[in-house]
Amino acid sequence: MSNCNRKILVAGAAGQVGTELVPALRRRYGPENVIAAAHRTLPEESFRKAGPFVTLDATDEDALRGLVRAYDIGAIYHLATLLSADGERDPERAWHVNLGSLKNVLDLGVEFEMSQVFWPSSIAVFGPTTPLVHTPQRTVLEPTTMYGVTKVAGENLCHYYWARYGLDVRGLRYPGLVSYEAFSGGGTTDYSVEIFTAAVTRGHYTCFVDASTVLPLMYMDDAIRATMELMAADSSRITVRTSYNVSAVSFTAGELAAAVADRVNGFTCDFEPDFRQAIADSWPDSMDDSVAREDWGWKPEYDLSALVETMLNGVREKLARR
Ligand SMILES: NC(=O)c1ccc[n+]([C@@H]2O[C@H](COP(=O)([O-])OP(=O)(O)OC[C@H]3O[C@@H](n4cnc5c(N)ncnc54)[C@H](O)[C@@H]3O)[C@@H](O)[C@H]2O)c1
Repeated sequence: MSNCNRKILVAGAAGQVGTELVPALRRRYGPENVIAAAHRTLPEESFRKAGPFVTLDATDEDALRGLVRAYDIGAIYHLATLLSADGERDPERAWHVNLGSLKNVLDLGVEFEMSQVFWPSSIAVFGPTTPLVHTPQRTVLEPTTMYGVTKVAGENLCHYYWARYGLDVRGLRYPGLVSYEAFSGGGTTDYSVEIFTAAVTRGHYTCFVDASTVLPLMYMDDAIRATMELMAADSSRITVRTSYNVSAVSFTAGELAAAVADRVNGFTCDFEPDFRQAIADSWPDSMDDSVAREDWGWKPEYDLSALVETMLNGVREKLARR
């Protein structure tokens, strides 16, 4: 946050990422300097009371402009989205929410001369024509989902606003994110989160992709750290204005189930692929994130074993809190 008297807005703050990014930003910049804006899903009371909290439909440009004015917003972390599986259920709405809200954020970023905008992209930008192993930073982007289409268009829009207006927009192609604090569902990597709660509460999980499905995944702490490090990097180091590949771990759904079974007595998992299998099959197995490593020093910390251990402890602790 270079113009540090102005405040940060997090739009889509009550989702899986926002629930953990907002506290991280508040720890760094002070609770009163980070405005959390949720849409229809209301977060827990402790989250709502930890700093300024508002509701916002980010597709409503006037409402967004009103907020930017009222709080003197100088940077936006724009997380509002419809994820991949929900996007296939309602492609029209995915287009409207994902790109309509991004356009509003970028326009207001220029209008109010904001110092920074963060917008996450996804491995969903890739498709079956992309090299699926060690997918390069710059490669074919022909996604088969509406979510992926909005991410490709969004990446290009971000690049355009940087090149045309000098807006400091930065982005990461998050892999599937694994976390236990908040989980809204609607994505294709949901199995990698659902399996932990199912293991602890029922001892059984029915996975909606087959056991051999490999996807790049990342524990949330790594994703939050990647976000904070990217945004703190000197602008001269940022060579990618579409969105950076960032990678952590890749494993099959079967390996994940086995790692959970090693730690939860009697846990069983069966595999019944649904429509999300085709989406998973069109995404990479692993990503080459060497550009992020070179530009701003990206390095993941969680491997499969640390991820599984942390998730099981976190899910148990969260259930005990209730
Ligand atoms: N979770 C993942 O595995 C993952 C992977 C890759 C990329 N991403 C990206 O990270 C970002 C955050 O994703 P997430 O996992 O937190 O998603 P999420 O679905 O958990 O949260 C998104 C939030 O956006 C809100 N929202 C929906 N429509 C809105 C609107 N019109 N105005 C304002 N808010 C609205 C929803 O209420 C929800 O709380 C998104 O850009 C997503 O594409 C996430």
